[in-house]
Amino acid sequence: SSKVYKLNSGETIPALGLGTWQASADDVYKAVLFALKTGYRHIDSALAYGNEEPVGRAIRDSGIPRKEIFVTTKLAPIDALDPAGALDQSLKNLGLDYVDLYLMHWPVCLNKANKSHPGIPTLPNGKRDIVFDRDFTQTYADMQHLVESGKAKSIGVSNFSIKNLKKLFSSPDYKIVPTVNQVEIHPYLPQTELLEFCKKHDILLEAFSPLGSSNSPLLKDETIVKIAEKNQVSVATILISWAIWRGTVVLPKSVSDSRIESNFNVVDLSDEDGEELNNLHKVKGIKRFVSPNWDPIDVYGED
Ligand code: A2P
Repeated sequence: SSKVYKLNSGETIPALGLGTWQASADDVYKAVLFALKTGYRHIDSALAYGNEEPVGRAIRDSGIPRKEIFVTTKLAPIDALDPAGALDQSLKNLGLDYVDLYLMHWPVCLNKANKSHPGIPTLPNGKRDIVFDRDFTQTYADMQHLVESGKAKSIGVSNFSIKNLKKLFSSPDYKIVPTVNQVEIHPYLPQTELLEFCKKHDILLEAFSPLGSSNSPLLKDETIVKIAEKNQVSVATILISWAIWRGTVVLPKSVSDSRIESNFNVVDLSDEDGEELNNLHKVKGIKRFVSPNWDPIDVYGED
């Protein structure tokens, strides 16, 4: 799909992008090169994925003009005290002069001594190893300057709940509306309230793990299989098409050429199919596949 959306910053973002989490350096280099050859113009990366170097190298080796490719990377929680330094490091890793989008990866500051992924370390006293005197609103205030520097065309957030977005909006140095909020979204976690809230505030929602990550039960769900058979496309194509039908960005990850290629094919979902997928969680229950122990309810004291 070559569909694009307009961000509130005025920039244009392709609706479909390649996810790169859990892709090894070798795999991701080939995957990004192949995706760009297939027609993808949007690559989603993060410092915490540990693969910015091969992602950037593939972008540079593709021969496609830099300005035609939308590149996202993310501020890792261990770098929350220094977004400017962290972005410089990411640009160095990528071998690029700027990113199109720089996201706060999580609304939290972690001790630098820790790995930022895959989970927030738990201390012997059972508490999470979070720097509690560093609020994410301060980190966001610092990120706002990165737009002036030209090193990030747009900024946004990731893994933000409605509660944390409201907190951000009312923080003292808040000036720039985040362009996007990237969260886990699929039919077992449709994030409907968050979608409505973000639409109201002109924030685009981005769906990560739209296929339900690895070993996903979504691919075998009988309702989704039925919709896929009816439309004569794969289950993955239905999940990706549903995300676009709902007006979100969608970031399926794959390192397989055939799946990268087939994931780029989006169908126009009927409203009936779309609504059926919207309501599927009512039968199947809400399921968070990625880092369930990072659930904002657990980590950020959400109610
Ligand atoms: P692979 O990289 O080997 O293709 P998500 O984007 O929800 O995190 O899902 C990614 C997972 O789904 C990966 O394990 C990926 O494996 C797999 N995957 C990607 N595309 C497809 C597809 N079209 N059909 C089945 N599995 C897929």
